[in-house]
Amino acid sequence: MPEKHSLSTLLVHAGRSERVTQGSVNPVLQRASSLVFKNLAQKKQATLNRAKQGLFYGRRGTLTHFALQDAMTELEGGAGCYLYPCGTAAVTNSILAFVAAGDHILVSGAAYEPTQEFCQHILKKMGVETTFYDPMAGAQVATLLQANTKVLFLESPSSLTMEVPDIPAIVAAVRRVNPEIVIIIDNTWSGGILFKALEYGIDISVQAGTKYLVGHSDTMIGTAVANARCWDQLRENSYLMGQMADADSAYVTARGLRTLGVRLQQHHVSGLKVAQWLAQRGEVKAVYHPALPSCPGHEFFKRDFSGASGLFSFELQQKLSHEQLERFMDHFTLFSMAYSWGGFESLILYNQPEEIARIRPNIQRKLSGTLIRLHIGFEDTEELIADLNAGFERLK
Ligand SMILES: Cc1ncc(COP(=O)(O)O)c(C=O)c1O
Repeated sequence: MPEKHSLSTLLVHAGRSERVTQGSVNPVLQRASSLVFKNLAQKKQATLNRAKQGLFYGRRGTLTHFALQDAMTELEGGAGCYLYPCGTAAVTNSILAFVAAGDHILVSGAAYEPTQEFCQHILKKMGVETTFYDPMAGAQVATLLQANTKVLFLESPSSLTMEVPDIPAIVAAVRRVNPEIVIIIDNTWSGGILFKALEYGIDISVQAGTKYLVGHSDTMIGTAVANARCWDQLRENSYLMGQMADADSAYVTARGLRTLGVRLQQHHVSGLKVAQWLAQRGEVKAVYHPALPSCPGHEFFKRDFSGASGLFSFELQQKLSHEQLERFMDHFTLFSMAYSWGGFESLILYNQPEEIARIRPNIQRKLSGTLIRLHIGFEDTEELIADLNAGFERLK
């Protein structure tokens, strides 16, 4: 869309060009490996345009992929968007595109666990060293830079413990030392719209689209929106790594975008209501919801984000025993136990403090009570609160 529109309007219209919708409201679902050329001239043209949405070969995308790529590029304000079969592939390929043997990278020590493990195992084997930093260290993160540091990887808020880093301070300090460093963020929690990463000097905004973009817990996809400086290298590296999402997943993700704004608004309202109720409970030591002052980095959240989504955690006063955990976790009627999040349904998981310490290298903050992570979906909040209340009763 040429003119400047508000986010709500963009979410409805982005990526729906005549070329990809062909007269319907949604993009066509074009499933293809082979894309057929009518003659030599057309084949030549397609080859020339293969990186610019020419219909060339399935791995370069079809009209369905182009619709989602255009929409994401427009929404996150980048030069292009690459699609991956899941969020982890988006994270790992975004890093891989910018490192070689002998390089060093900086990664949040509170990032999603598989992101950290990728660095510890795969990158290490390739001769790329990782330093994990404390996301609350602010500008001090720049003191960890080395002459061979090529990538800074951020995640906000952190997985599980929900710290919100001072991203402008980190980005400015790192750029002051080395403007060339590629800065990547796992921006999944914000759906790419609550925190406009590229406006903060970040080069690549990665999402596990599996969560909020899809929004219905039934499809896996990853997205990476890059600025002009990084787009060509990200695209061509990811292409050579054989990365691509299937057309059906791209289709449902583009459909999910149309309701992303209203879904996130409801996640914000419902999540905050449950978080505020939890904050009053005697069993709860602290609630780590970015919109509450008890969450580390709340002031940065208020400054940099336009709203909250539905995922947050809280720490109990005590560390629950195995028997207490079974009593608490096994009998919820509305909250299900599952690893993903971002759908319409409410979810619950727990982590013991020693597990958190193990997957938080170089982080000062330590927990002493059991950490419960909630994703608040679209059920009635009073009923969700009653379900949690019954859980606390079972602990008595
Ligand atoms: C913050 C974050 N990033 C990335 C991922 C990975 O996404 P996927 O499961 O689609 O690979 C997840 C999944 O839980 C996540 O929570």
